[in-house]
Amino acid sequence: MGYDNIQVATNGRVGIITLHRPKALNALNEALIGELGRALDAFEADRSIGCLVLTGSDRAFAAGADIKEMQALGFPATYTDDFVTSWERLSRCRKPVIAAVAGYALGGGCELAMMCDIILAADNARFGQPEIQLGVMPGAGGSQRLTRAIGKAKAMEMCLTGRTLTAEEADRFGLVSRVVPLSGLMDEAMKVADTIAGLSLPAAMMAKESVNRAFETTLAEGIRFERRLFQALFATADQKEGMDAFVEKRAASFRNG
Ligand code: CAA
Repeated sequence: MGYDNIQVATNGRVGIITLHRPKALNALNEALIGELGRALDAFEADRSIGCLVLTGSDRAFAAGADIKEMQALGFPATYTDDFVTSWERLSRCRKPVIAAVAGYALGGGCELAMMCDIILAADNARFGQPEIQLGVMPGAGGSQRLTRAIGKAKAMEMCLTGRTLTAEEADRFGLVSRVVPLSGLMDEAMKVADTIAGLSLPAAMMAKESVNRAFETTLAEGIRFERRLFQALFATADQKEGMDAFVEKRAASFRNG
């Protein structure tokens, strides 16, 4: 099955999804989100893939939910259809996902980036939750994930005024892991993704699960959860290989099991 609103590629053990609705700055409509969900399902099921990269164009990662599609919606349909729920497929992704963000990441675009595990920003990236300017508010986790990422004061200002952050501010506030020149964004994202994909997949998946647990539980519960996953990894061949390789002073060759 082909895709009209995204482009999908693989490079070694890395799956790459490029949002591709150039005429609408990658505005997130139902068709695009459906295709994104299908692409994620396929990469999740593909044992040869160890890490994903989600990106857009140089001008826009995504300029938010499709306003033209939402314009005529009323409450009953918004409530019963709950269209934003399908976006959460990305946050349920079990393999690591890197967002490579250039240009606008606004509204749902910023929310999509925040559902990823690592955000790499190009120096022209702009992050914002401008929904308030449309008479609404963030609806795909923005008020929650942004607050956890950069704290109440800064998240409040963004959600209440629609102010956007430059890439440098997003870096300083802790929203992104790094800023790189636009021309080097994909190379850098692929470097990070290749590194992750070359490690033990169960270890990477459990590390991701454990970090995410920190947002949903107490410190004591989180530490207990982490300990169980740490112990579980001693049942994998990759733990033997990783530690044997260190002791034997050679590169490890993980088999993802
Ligand atoms: N939905 C639908 N179409 C969009 C869009 C969006 N979110 N963002 C941009 N577009 C379209 C424009 O309508 C325009 O199409 P036409 O040429 O057919 O008119 C095209 O993309 C190019 O956009 P602009 O001409 O506006 O480009 P610009 O460079 O002048 O401005 C921008 C760029 C500042 C990003 C501006 O497009 C903008 O403000 N976009 C809307 C951003 C926004 O409000 N996002 C939040 C959406 S609500 C949401 O996301 C809800 C949620 O949390 C789930």
